[in-house]
Amino acid sequence: MRGIVLAGGTGSRLWPSTISVCKQLMPVYDKPLIYYPISTLMSAQIREILIITTPSDQSLFQKLLGDGSQLGMEFTYQIQERPEGLAQALIIGADFIGDQGVALVLGDNIFHGVGLGHQLTSALDVEGAQIFGYHVADPRKYGVVELDSQGKALSIEEKPSHPKSQLAVTGLYFFDNRASSIAAQVTPSARGELEITSVLEAYLKTGELNVSVLSRGTAWLDTGSAESLHDAASYVRVIEERTGLKIGCLEEIAWRNGWITSQSLEELAKKMGSSNYGTYLTNLINSEG
Ligand code: G1P
Repeated sequence: MRGIVLAGGTGSRLWPSTISVCKQLMPVYDKPLIYYPISTLMSAQIREILIITTPSDQSLFQKLLGDGSQLGMEFTYQIQERPEGLAQALIIGADFIGDQGVALVLGDNIFHGVGLGHQLTSALDVEGAQIFGYHVADPRKYGVVELDSQGKALSIEEKPSHPKSQLAVTGLYFFDNRASSIAAQVTPSARGELEITSVLEAYLKTGELNVSVLSRGTAWLDTGSAESLHDAASYVRVIEERTGLKIGCLEEIAWRNGWITSQSLEELAKKMGSSNYGTYLTNLINSEG
């Protein structure tokens, strides 16, 4: 299974903050936003990741993340010329996906919770599509999935004004190898985008849309507005300070997954200098290495 992080878009709801720096590079407390969705894919044991950005931001992501080898991973980069929809990521990534399945995560979605990695790894061999529903107070801002009493998907709608359930579709999707060809058949919506919901509808029609509901103990945060970005930063800070453990720390996950040695972790820690992040990495090696 290969992974795609979609980090395109204009971030217009955060202007002026995102005029010169794109949203996915903005800090969420102590690290750039994109670290969190990358860490979600890593917790599902996905090591080959395509990062899709706008043309002007690509070099900034490359400066931050490199080719991934420092983490025992492989990062490649492609461009989305215009914000023409999430489903376009599956078309742009068709060659990268090759003959594999694919996990697509949105570059501004943060997932955190006990047992999440386990729940995600069980989606690796998905036949059809696997999505994750999350109970939210106001589902109108999201894709919304309706389930029957057996947990089977009945309908899926993009930002409905009268939602049929309170289950939002989170920005993490696992697909079998047909995803790119299905996305290529999608026609643009009224807002001119290739909607991921249309791809999911195609899987729903053939009875191949699997839905797991994330447990109440899981946090799913999006960061589309100034308020939600601030909330996410507060959440990360509270949990990290309380537990002394970081959320979305790529070097730590790579090390715990056995993808890099303690010596490599030490080198990465040194590169972070005297920052809180660097000190954390150094302490990891000293306490557990
Ligand atoms: C997108 C999807 C929506 C999903 C949401 C999750 O919406 O279209 O179905 O629920 O991401 O973050 P966007 O925020 O891009 O408008």
